[in-house]
Amino acid sequence: MNSIQFPIAIYALIALITFLFISWIRRKPLPPGPMGWPIIGNMLMMDQLTHRGLAGLAKKYGGILHLKMGFGHTIAISSPEMAKEVLQVKDNIFANRPATIAIRYLTYDCADMAFTDYGPFWRQMRKLCVMKLFSRRRAESWDSVRDEVDTMVKATAINTGLPVNLGELVFGLTHDIIYRAAFGSISHEGKEEFIRILQEYTKLFGAFNLADFIPWLGFIDPAGLNTRLPAARAALDRFIDKIIDEHLTKGKKIGDEDAENDMVDEMLAFYSEEGKINEVDDLQNAIKLTRDNIKAIIMDVMFGGTETVASAIEWAMAELMHTPEALKRVQQELTDVVGLERRVEESDFERLTYFKCVIKETLRMHPPIPVTLHKSSEATTVDGYYIPKGSRVMVNQYAINRDKDYWEDPDTFNPSRFLKDGSPDFKGNNFEFLPFGSGRRSCPGMQLGLYATEMAVAHLLHSFTWELPDGMKPSELDMGDVFGLTAPKAVRLVAVPTPRLLCPLY
Ligand code: HEM
Repeated sequence: MNSIQFPIAIYALIALITFLFISWIRRKPLPPGPMGWPIIGNMLMMDQLTHRGLAGLAKKYGGILHLKMGFGHTIAISSPEMAKEVLQVKDNIFANRPATIAIRYLTYDCADMAFTDYGPFWRQMRKLCVMKLFSRRRAESWDSVRDEVDTMVKATAINTGLPVNLGELVFGLTHDIIYRAAFGSISHEGKEEFIRILQEYTKLFGAFNLADFIPWLGFIDPAGLNTRLPAARAALDRFIDKIIDEHLTKGKKIGDEDAENDMVDEMLAFYSEEGKINEVDDLQNAIKLTRDNIKAIIMDVMFGGTETVASAIEWAMAELMHTPEALKRVQQELTDVVGLERRVEESDFERLTYFKCVIKETLRMHPPIPVTLHKSSEATTVDGYYIPKGSRVMVNQYAINRDKDYWEDPDTFNPSRFLKDGSPDFKGNNFEFLPFGSGRRSCPGMQLGLYATEMAVAHLLHSFTWELPDGMKPSELDMGDVFGLTAPKAVRLVAVPTPRLLCPLY
């Protein structure tokens, strides 16, 4: 370097450092939040990262708050205005999801739709799900809802006059619906094993892993994740590989009108040893799915479609048992509209106005996914606060759906609030009510999920009269919840059915 170049390099370096320093001090402030400790930040508050914990913090810090979890930034959104900023105004920046080490491993490095980053692959997978897998035109999924609801009604009728664990009943129902829609009936015998695999996945998704927050402390592994993760994925591989091989051998022809295609059949039409994504409109030429993609999407469907629907059904029944006037009113509507001489049918739904309000009010008070997760793909601002790139953004549906500025008496179950003109719907444009999310990452299974919820609740209410067991009063019903992927009832709902129809139930 000659004598003239040397000072120029020094000046350039000083200018760059000065520029970075000025940008840093001019940077907008982070959202408000509790002070953290060096290195660990607010990690001692980890137990407050639940819908209720974050709602409590929002009362003190407001609709947007910041926590430092180890080296990562966490932003909690708890008001409709802030949710609109994140999910609509800056949807393109918050369209990714944060994946923990466990999630990345169990989804074959985000080979699914729910955790893959927003981009061409996600867009094609979304098209596949919306147009093929969860489409209303896939009659088999809708048939499996009707058949399994029938089976549930029969199982309940057999227990007339006895306490029925409604919580377990509906969790069994939704597993059966989704299992059948995904795999068809040929592999039903492996269902128990599959449920065990799902349960281990649920535990692993929720397990605390220090390495997610302070990467160089990955060797501290009290939950045994380093051995449990490979074991769980190997069990899933064994299970689904066998099903895929059976389907390949069966060689079902897609498009064959008489053949009953399950979701694995639908996906195998796009199967290739090597994945491929093209941005063309013709889906068949646009996307090729590997085995890992197929397995990961099956897990999306299992996790997205079972606990969510089951928790909505159980909460609807629990809130009605807890609020006898609402139970009486909705059953009277079923009697008036459908009568007692036949079972309720899908075509009745549009005239069941109050019933629809019951479902909405349940989803308002108990959003099945109480906190949705997003990630900022670049540094940005929300409400004038700085949001660093890669922040984990938790949108607290539970807090938003009970915001006192938008909802009168928000903690009271009152379906009639949805009878008023202009009351919010769940299409994602009313940011005070987002049970299915909003924007690019909103729920692609909404139609199927709603259909299953409405069918199950309508049949349980129309076919039976329900009493709480052992003379329990409605006010004594435990209405607590637990936080996980969903927020189901902490204590399962148990009630005693008596048939109320004049026709045979089966
Ligand atoms: C009552 C039933 C259901 C509720 C309340 C529900 C709710 C949600 C919510 C809140 C999200 C996240 C939205 C966001 O991040 O903004 C979501 C995503 C998703 N749901 Fe559902 N869901 C239900 C049923 C279903 C069903 C039946 C399926 C599939 C068969 C399904 C599949 C998915 C998938 C794959 C995603 C991820 C989408 C993406 O990241 O692009 N859901 N759901």
